[in-house]
Amino acid sequence: MTRVITYGTFDLFHEGHYRLLKRAKALGDYLIVGVTTEAYDKTRGKLNVVDSLMTRIENVKKTGFADEVIIEEAAGQKFNDVKKFHIDIFTVGSDWIGKFDYLSDYCKVVYLERTKNISSTMLREKNSHIQRIGIIGTGRIAERFIPESKLVSGVSIQGVYNPHKESATRFAERWEINAYEDLEEFYDAIDIVYIASPHETHYRYIKSAMEHGKHVLCEKPMVLERKQAEELFQYAKSRGLILLEGIKTAYCPGFAKLLGIACSGTIGNIRNVEACFTKLEKPDSRELTNTCYGGSFTELGSYVLLPILKLLGKDFEDIRFDSIQGENGLDLFTKVSFKYPAAIATATCGLGVKSEGRLLIAGSKGYIVVEAPWWKTTYFEVHYGNANEVEKYSERFLGDGLRYEISDFLSMINGANQSDFKLTRGESVALADVMERFMRKEKRLESR
Ligand code: CTP
Repeated sequence: MTRVITYGTFDLFHEGHYRLLKRAKALGDYLIVGVTTEAYDKTRGKLNVVDSLMTRIENVKKTGFADEVIIEEAAGQKFNDVKKFHIDIFTVGSDWIGKFDYLSDYCKVVYLERTKNISSTMLREKNSHIQRIGIIGTGRIAERFIPESKLVSGVSIQGVYNPHKESATRFAERWEINAYEDLEEFYDAIDIVYIASPHETHYRYIKSAMEHGKHVLCEKPMVLERKQAEELFQYAKSRGLILLEGIKTAYCPGFAKLLGIACSGTIGNIRNVEACFTKLEKPDSRELTNTCYGGSFTELGSYVLLPILKLLGKDFEDIRFDSIQGENGLDLFTKVSFKYPAAIATATCGLGVKSEGRLLIAGSKGYIVVEAPWWKTTYFEVHYGNANEVEKYSERFLGDGLRYEISDFLSMINGANQSDFKLTRGESVALADVMERFMRKEKRLESR
């Protein structure tokens, strides 16, 4: 009996998939089809898979060609499967030519010609109108956003707006997009807005973008006052728009895995969270010279507050800020201490003091430690009372990681709200609330 194996995502099952499976089956007597999990697809950069794993498996089964369906959930699995299932022929479409030659020591490798003019990517793009993104702001983060957005299907960068014509033009030329200095013209040309301008301009831009009917993804901190966050979310809801705060950590797969483990009871009740992120900035940088909106906490606070709010919630009993200030009064280093009914937490950040960036979650049965850069979570350890008992977890974090939040933002726009738990409106409001308390304590809001 000749045993054949093939693999695929089989999303939005189409003619190309059907023909591939038919020919794969014809190569032998028994066909095994490996269908990928969402998690595995994410790690290999396929972020917009529409159908669930169950639907994709059902569709493969319905063809009647598969004698057995297995799940493909990790890189390296094919090599083991070939041996485990005593495979004679491994086959995939011709888009993979050469990629699986390493298996030819163990079985025959056949690349079947791909069916022309059809793919899941094409169908996804046809089913959902391509969202044209307009970027407001031309700083470093906007530079990183563009290459990341190219990896998410269903979006295209239309142009950039900056009231300073020269900056907009320079940026637009570099990325071969359009430059806009007129906001009305900009809104007319786009569907969704990514705001990456200085913090103090966020509120005004979010409001005007939503008034023009645009969905908004805004860099952190979205706003620095609680009532502004509440008002904006309320307005978004009333107009059926998506407003999302872009804290990339919240959307990356490793951080989601970490929260899942931390909240599953493995380390018992969580009693202490310590999050630290420091990054030395030059004294003449924008971050350390904008005396109203600069400083460590407005710059990095969102990252260090995120795990605390996610793990311990929004209902702290007490909060206290301690900062070390530079000559211009901006905080070079800030430590926020929280007291909860049954836990304590500290969020530490600095632009003028370097410390060890670490996230530590301590519970009644053990603790979780994530070393820097924990805000791009790729690896963490769970420790218990017995020092020899350590569980290690890892997850990929691709590129700059913005692709995950862009992809989640897009699925929300397309009507799937499976990702809105990653950073809820309530959590974004709580972040704005803590930012506001800090700004008031520093007497910065009054000084505007
Ligand atoms: N396939 C094919 N002809 C097509 C599309 C896919 O023969 N027009 C084959 C692939 O080469 C692979 C299998 O079908 O062996 C499963 O492919 P998959 O990656 O799930 O489908 P694509 O349509 O290529 O998906 P995407 O656009 O997301 O890459």
